[in-house]
Amino acid sequence: MTPTRLLILSDIHGRPEALESVLRAAGGWDAAVFCGDLVSYGPQPGPVVDWVRDNCRWVVAGNHDRALALGVDPQCKDTWRPWALATLAWHRSLLHEDQISWLRDLPAVTEFEFGGARFVAAHASPTGDLTGYRPPHEICALVRGLSGVDVVLTGHTHEQWVRRAGPVACINPGSVGLPRTLRRACAAVWDDGRVESIRAPLEWATTRLQLAASPLPPGVVDLADSLMAHVWRHGTCGAPRPDS
Ligand SMILES: [Fe+2]
Repeated sequence: MTPTRLLILSDIHGRPEALESVLRAAGGWDAAVFCGDLVSYGPQPGPVVDWVRDNCRWVVAGNHDRALALGVDPQCKDTWRPWALATLAWHRSLLHEDQISWLRDLPAVTEFEFGGARFVAAHASPTGDLTGYRPPHEICALVRGLSGVDVVLTGHTHEQWVRRAGPVACINPGSVGLPRTLRRACAAVWDDGRVESIRAPLEWATTRLQLAASPLPPGVVDLADSLMAHVWRHGTCGAPRPDS
């Protein structure tokens, strides 16, 4: 039987329980693609790296993956930055060298065929930029310059959306571990031209306890609490909007 179901994941950010929740909600799938950001923010980067390495056929780097693997700045801004930088330093100590070298070798963009469609997957932009924040209309404008592509996948903004740019479907599956517009673990499934938006249950209490028991400074855990509470209350990550 021809494979038709492609699971599209992005921005797990060290939260395997969120990954398990979207996997339960997604049901069966034939192949999986990951659009970047395995690490930062959450308490368990190792199981996330191992699962994606073992189960995703196509994987691109996110800005936080590059930051951890290459020691460069993730270019986070504003209020989320202290949380990201503190967890990046901690995650470096949690991961094995083979996991870090795998992160280091991830491409910025990957192209592939699946189910008769031609895909491009990237983190922040199909151009390969990993850090700029682009709303859907800017991604669609970039996609109109591409040829020989049916579907463009991006992540980074942690906001789930689907648009069309002419004949090309543009999909951001949202964030598995750190959605910034709703209290749901997000993902998507491409099924023979049809897009399913996955929104699965997501809890914070266990993650909060794990962060509180970590070497992170208490102020960082309090910041994480307040940022997540803001997302759940207002359905935004706050103004001014930080990059992912
Ligand atoms: Fe991210």
